[in-house]
Formats: sequence, C-alpha cells, structure tokens
Amino acid sequence: MSNKKDIYILGIESSCDETAAAVVKNGREVLSNIIFSQISLHTLYGGVVPEIASRQHIEKINQVIRKALSEANCTLDDMDAVAVTYGPGLVGALLVGVAEAKAICYAKNIPLIGVHHIEGHISANYIEHKELEPPFLCMVASGGHSHLVMVKGYGQYDIIGRTHDDAAGEAYDKVARAIGLGYPGGPKVDAVAKEGNPEAISFPRAKVEGAEYDFSFSGLKSAVLNYLNQCEMKGEEIVIADVAASFQAAVVDVLVDHTISAAKALNVDKVSIAGGVAANSALRASMNKACQENNMIFYYPSPILCTDNAAMIGAAGYYEYLNGNFAGWDLNAVPNLKIGERAV
Ligand code: KG4
Ligand code: ZN
Repeated sequence: MSNKKDIYILGIESSCDETAAAVVKNGREVLSNIIFSQISLHTLYGGVVPEIASRQHIEKINQVIRKALSEANCTLDDMDAVAVTYGPGLVGALLVGVAEAKAICYAKNIPLIGVHHIEGHISANYIEHKELEPPFLCMVASGGHSHLVMVKGYGQYDIIGRTHDDAAGEAYDKVARAIGLGYPGGPKVDAVAKEGNPEAISFPRAKVEGAEYDFSFSGLKSAVLNYLNQCEMKGEEIVIADVAASFQAAVVDVLVDHTISAAKALNVDKVSIAGGVAANSALRASMNKACQENNMIFYYPSPILCTDNAAMIGAAGYYEYLNGNFAGWDLNAVPNLKIGERAV
C-alpha cells in the first residue's frame, strides 16, 4: 500500500502507565493512535505502581500494536522504521517497549529509532499544527517534567527552565490526593476548579533565586497542605472547589509568566505547550490570552495528544529518521535520560 515517497513509522510508548502504539505517515499524519490506559488499575493505589505497569505493558503491547496497524490499514511490512520511547520513565515499563521495538526491527530489517519522551511531547504540536516549524518555545509540563524548551530545529533543543523539585503534574496529583479527589489528579482538579473561586485563597507563586525561568512547585503543594491542616484545626469549612481553583491559578500563573518572559527574552513569537498538564483548560485559556496580548502565536495539541500517546513518538521519530539518527541493537532503557542526549 505504501507509496515509496511516503515514510511510515510505527511509534511505541510505554514509559509510564499508558501502553500505546501509532502509525504516523511523514511525521505529521496520524493513521492510528491506540492507547491502552492502565489508570483504573493504579487508581486503587493512589498512583502508578511500577511493577504493575511493567506487567500490564507486556500483556497488552502486542494487542495494541496489532490494533494500531489494522486501524491504519497497514502491516509491519509497510513500516519504514519503529520509533520507541527509551527514556525518561520507569525502567521496567520502558524496557517492554524497547525490547518490542527491537524485535520488530530485527525481524523486518528496518531501522530502530530511540525517542526521548519529552521530544515526543513537543512533537505532538507538529501533528496538530501542520504549518509549525522550529524555532519556537515549548513549555512542557507533565507528571514527571516541567521544562521550558527552546526548539531551535528538529531534534535541537536548549533547556531554558526546569523544575527544582516537583513537576507541575506531580503537584496536581499530590494536591488532588490531599483534597480527596484521587488519581490522576490533573483532570479532576481541572473539573472541580471550574466551580471554585481562583482568588479565594492566596497561594504562593514561587520564584527560583538566580534562575528566572526555573520552577518550584513543592512550596505551593506544602502551602495547600498547611491551609487544609489549619482549616481542620480551626474547625473551618474547606471549600474544595476554591482550594482547587486557587491552587490551579497559582500553577497556571507561574507557567504562563515564565513562558511569556522567556519568549520575550529570546525574541521568539511562536509559543507552544505540551505534556499532560497542557490538557488543562485554565492553562490553555490563560496562555492563549497572554500570547494574544504579546502578539505571539500560540500552538497547543488537542488533549489526547497532550497526555502520553505513541503518535507523538512517531512524529518525533520521523525527524530522527530524516537525520539518519538510528539506534543500535544495544539500545537500552534510560530512566533519567536528559533531553538532547542521543540513543547512539
Ligand atoms: O504527559 P503525561 O500523560 O505523563 C507524563 O509524561 O508524566 O502527564 C500526566 C500528568 C499527570 O500528572 C496528570 O495529573 C496531568 O498530567 N494532567 C493534567 C490534566 N490532564 C492530565 N493536569 C492538569 N489538568 C489536566 N486537565
Ligand atoms: Zn508524558
């Protein structure tokens, strides 16, 4: 079925609690995007249990890949390469995807591409916005990361800011647990916050001394916990919606502020967001407004491409493919992989 000029990439993602596979044509056209979410299994424990995640990946990965191929009306013989997340993430979870990708590439004699998970998140913007090309600034906020990344070219990144402690999504998940919303916290806080007053409680907007664009969310998380404790001690009523809205306002303010000031300092007029927290309705609205006020163009993926998926891995893998950045058979999972490091 494949026209020789077109490049078909099978993307595989298994770094955390989603087992995902996708077929992506020429880096930007998603022919299928299958995600098996393990969330219901982990909810019982209030967070991702690495051992359970790995076991689920090994059970589901072949079914997920088969479904991705059939929905795309393809077979493995149509694939030009396999792109797989090899870090950062949970080591046991990553190993399932890496071993699977190697087996397919070995059997079909096609190139293996190792993709950095954050590069994947950033690349979700290429799928959504066919016209988007580097350079642009991307604010990546997920359960494990909060990074401000200057995308200088395909596969070329400068880290402008990072978190010193919790990631933004982690703060969402911890606060959600404290106010009894359960796991995963982000979407739940997002929904409950719509009923609350974002100015009801004044939570801190942390600055990191000497690192203007860096983030710190652990103080905010502690401030929420202190507030809840104090209310309990004084016997005061806790309005969950107000706590959620006020916490969210503090996170969003900092993410938007840092992104816009970095964009101004770097003189870029294209701003994007990525990662699970980029699905947040308040962040999308606030970043959109700030970009408009500052004459910047705002790019954001649809929510399904913000949270973990394999289409974004296929998109990132395409540009590695064009650059000839192929991995060897010794590709390993790298749980703490830094952005910009190569698989080979
Ligand atoms: O990108 P992702 O699926 O996985 C990681 O790479 O970590 O991000 C998951 C994180 C979780 O912390 C989740 O609570 C958060 O993204 N998240 C949200 C929303 N949807 C997911 N946070 C805020 N608002 C949302 N709507
Ligand atoms: Zn992710």
